[in-house]
Amino acid sequence: MGTYIRYHRNNNLFELRTQNSRYSFFLRDGQYLIHSFYTDRRKKPEEHTVSPRVHFSPYSEEQGKDFFINNILREFPGFEEGDYREAALKIRNQNGDCCTRFIYKKHQIFPGRQELPGLPFAEADETTETLAITLEDKISKCEVMLYYTVFAACDVISRYYTVTNRGKAPLRIERCMSLSLDLSGRREMDWISLPGQYFYERNIQRVPIFEGIQGCGSRRGASSHYSNPFFAVCNRSATETKGDVYGFNFVYSGNFQTQIEACRESSIRIQTGLGQDCFSWLLEPGESFTTPEAVMTYTTKGLGQMTRNFHRFIRNHILPKETQHTPRPVVLNTWEASYFDIDEAKMLTFAESAAKNGLDMLVMDDGWFGARNHDRAGLGDWQPNPEKFPNGLKAFADAVRAKGVQFGVWIEPEMINPDSNLYREHPEWCLGVAGRRPSLSRNQRILDMANPAVVAYLKEMFDQTFRDFEPDYFKWDMNRNMSETGSSFLPLQRQDETAYRYMLGVYDLFAWFRKRFPHAIIENCSGGGGRYDLGMMKYSCQIWTSDNTIPEDRVRIQFGSMMAYPAETMSCHVSNRKHLTEDSRYLNYAYQVALNGTLGYELHLPNMSQTVQQAIAEQIREYKTHLEFLIRQGNYYRVLSPFETPYSAYYFESEDQSHILLTFLQNKGETPRTVKLKLPSADQNARYRDRYTGEIYEGFQLKKGFTLTTSEANHFGRMWALEKI
Ligand code: GLA
Repeated sequence: MGTYIRYHRNNNLFELRTQNSRYSFFLRDGQYLIHSFYTDRRKKPEEHTVSPRVHFSPYSEEQGKDFFINNILREFPGFEEGDYREAALKIRNQNGDCCTRFIYKKHQIFPGRQELPGLPFAEADETTETLAITLEDKISKCEVMLYYTVFAACDVISRYYTVTNRGKAPLRIERCMSLSLDLSGRREMDWISLPGQYFYERNIQRVPIFEGIQGCGSRRGASSHYSNPFFAVCNRSATETKGDVYGFNFVYSGNFQTQIEACRESSIRIQTGLGQDCFSWLLEPGESFTTPEAVMTYTTKGLGQMTRNFHRFIRNHILPKETQHTPRPVVLNTWEASYFDIDEAKMLTFAESAAKNGLDMLVMDDGWFGARNHDRAGLGDWQPNPEKFPNGLKAFADAVRAKGVQFGVWIEPEMINPDSNLYREHPEWCLGVAGRRPSLSRNQRILDMANPAVVAYLKEMFDQTFRDFEPDYFKWDMNRNMSETGSSFLPLQRQDETAYRYMLGVYDLFAWFRKRFPHAIIENCSGGGGRYDLGMMKYSCQIWTSDNTIPEDRVRIQFGSMMAYPAETMSCHVSNRKHLTEDSRYLNYAYQVALNGTLGYELHLPNMSQTVQQAIAEQIREYKTHLEFLIRQGNYYRVLSPFETPYSAYYFESEDQSHILLTFLQNKGETPRTVKLKLPSADQNARYRDRYTGEIYEGFQLKKGFTLTTSEANHFGRMWALEKI
């Protein structure tokens, strides 16, 4: 019996409570786990009724004719047992069939949580408790341990399980969903997801749930630009501030599948996990397999609250602790300013002007190693190019630091150009399929991270390169997706495990980096935001949100990303991509967009005019003194969505509600009109002063909404730094 998790013996009921939600299921006949409800902690749960229409629904003779497995809400549906909806787990047993019926064996409740071997997972705090339930299928001798972990203060519950082969012959896991949740009844509901593409990541898409199966996923070997593991299911009437919302995410960075199956008769089944495409796993007798962790939250307070639950959860339980409580450096990244054209002398001018203008870090992007003068050669050879850095990297890093800024460096550990020394030595270290010519993407192939020898080599190599000076920051890139996904290291019958084992290898390398360079920040990147997920956030506290730095586009990308992820996970740079930076209105707009995250710059700072340099120095001063703490720690509210209006407006409110930072951004100039900005959390009995204009706002006025006149001009944005007086 725990504080948040209870088992009521009298009615065989399991009850999981968070601060505001309640999740419950019961054990029928000592055998089946039947879902009861996932609802508000204070609400009386709705009674759900089993559909009386049970024709064509199988029943078992032992259970009797009033128990139809296809018509009940379930915690862990098996395969081929008369439940025609999607299974949580499908295994092929020693007899060649896939039939399972998982029956309760025992359970335990304990404080904290267990670690997931080799996988990222959410860290426990004092409000964390776990329920572990053992189930077994008597015929296949397959045992499953279901884990439910409660993160009470954030209203989040996580789910995963371990499958153990207790039989005498191998089993094959053919479908594996970490979380399966049945919602009762036929309700009008919407599905919200974040589809996108390279350069236009994470658009908010809200569509009605139809009868049948819908969902999304990735077969790219990465969570990808195209899909994101976050999704939500909400009542059709749910808004930002009201309505039932269920949010989901997956602590994993590779292939995944999310599914919503709406059935006419009984339920909506929601699942997320590794799925069945590009994945199967051979389980020898005595072996166990642990799925990655999936997380869910529930609120009656609309989409805004769901977002805040996840933001809090990510801040408290996912992001690396080492980088949580120190200000993030404002970086000067060299990519868009210089591409591959870099050398010691040029980089030192960047470092100098970064220091002069108040930036904290030089991040030297691609082009510093091997024969990397373009993207056709050199990947894999992690030794500095002696022509560009004649004195070596340590001397260069010392010189950068002597200028007064920290030193960061770009790496792409998982990739290789065929034109590289590493490839010439070890062509067999790439992913590939026997007899087929491997496809290239950005002139590169993918190292076989499923092979421990490759991971060990990379550790050794990076240790050597960075041994005598430790970078303060790594930008860890990954610039292509998988094809012909096979591993020459794995036997024939394990080829389907390649993509998953690849991710385990990547996580192993990330964990090594965190340990070997404990003070360094790792910025994750995959051609921008191609691996924007909770798995990556476990090791890297910020992610290069998109290669698209055009502010008008970035507004949407950032707004979409923040549906599920807190602002500080987004690296956002002011760039000169549109060659408009000398225009002060544009520069200010680009800054107003970029500060909504972890601010940085990506332009040729030494070549910028004095006026621009001074403006940038002023931006950084303002960001550091007044804004960063609110954006890092504040609660986030959406006001106007760029997916529904030509504007974007949102605000951050400090935990004690004394400060509000409101931003309004117009996508382009228009004939002026008035728009209303409503701040639902403003204190209606308080008064606020705007630090920018000195104007006073009444709290009730902010709550009800105040009007703003839009502008004819392009690049129009406005901010309010409101302080309670
Ligand atoms: C990717 C990244 C860019 C940059 C280049 C370097 O495209 O997203 O920011 O680092 O690689 O090659």
